[in-house]
Amino acid sequence: MYKIVKKETLAPNIYLMDIEAPRVAKSCYPGQFVIVKMDEKGERIPLTICDYNRDLGTVTIVFQTLGTSTKRMAEYEVGDSYRDFSGPLGCKSELVDESDEELRKKHILFVAGGVGTAPVYPQVKMMKERGIDVDCVIGARNKDLIILEDEMKKVAKNVYVATDDGSYGMKGNVNDCIKDLVQNQGKQYDLVIAIGPVIMMKFVCILTKELGIKTIVSMNPIMVDGTGMCGACRLTVGNEVKFACVDGPEFDGHLVDFDESMKRQQMYKTEEGRAALKEKE
Ligand code: FES
Repeated sequence: MYKIVKKETLAPNIYLMDIEAPRVAKSCYPGQFVIVKMDEKGERIPLTICDYNRDLGTVTIVFQTLGTSTKRMAEYEVGDSYRDFSGPLGCKSELVDESDEELRKKHILFVAGGVGTAPVYPQVKMMKERGIDVDCVIGARNKDLIILEDEMKKVAKNVYVATDDGSYGMKGNVNDCIKDLVQNQGKQYDLVIAIGPVIMMKFVCILTKELGIKTIVSMNPIMVDGTGMCGACRLTVGNEVKFACVDGPEFDGHLVDFDESMKRQQMYKTEEGRAALKEKE
């Protein structure tokens, strides 16, 4: 059993939890994920790791309540436990193994959309710990949905905020912000790491392809076993079939078939919808 030792509401329907999971905390890296299962019959929910504390043996997760399972997950309080907390799964961010020297030569821009800010955070934090300056764009529909801004400001050199409705920061989406940085402010980037809704990552990749900037995205599709056996998380990357749980979750964004991935996500929503209907019956 994996105990919840901290719970915070970051924004409407977005929760942060610290989970006591010493084995995961000891061996995880930025970019990897865990699969949470609330009880024996519970759905398996993949969540990218937001932070970890090896000394305390805790792992931080952030999730948004989107369907029946995540809503149930949010009902758990400090002191309650989840039955399974499997991980770390997937590959670590490729930045982990790059030398400080190599990284220092690059100008890196992180792009975080909505709840995707959570998996971006440990990567930016790692860069700070290694003495590497990076910029970060955080985007959301409105001010209330901007999360972890203060935490990000402590670890990134520059943080730029954009909201669709203009209630905070620049009015526009993350792409408007990237265009402004590159075309108006003369910023130059060699690498973009974009994590957020699939549709956001798709459009960031269209823009960065035009701008000629290599882009890494983190795919978080439907997952069942998380070990490459079930095929649920398959996606197409550069005409090759990949499994997000073992080959990813990070991929070259210019090669990912986002449209196919979105179609699969739609299917998942229908299934969650069905689960909700069943509960009402
Ligand atoms: Fe089953 Fe990836 S979750 S193959």
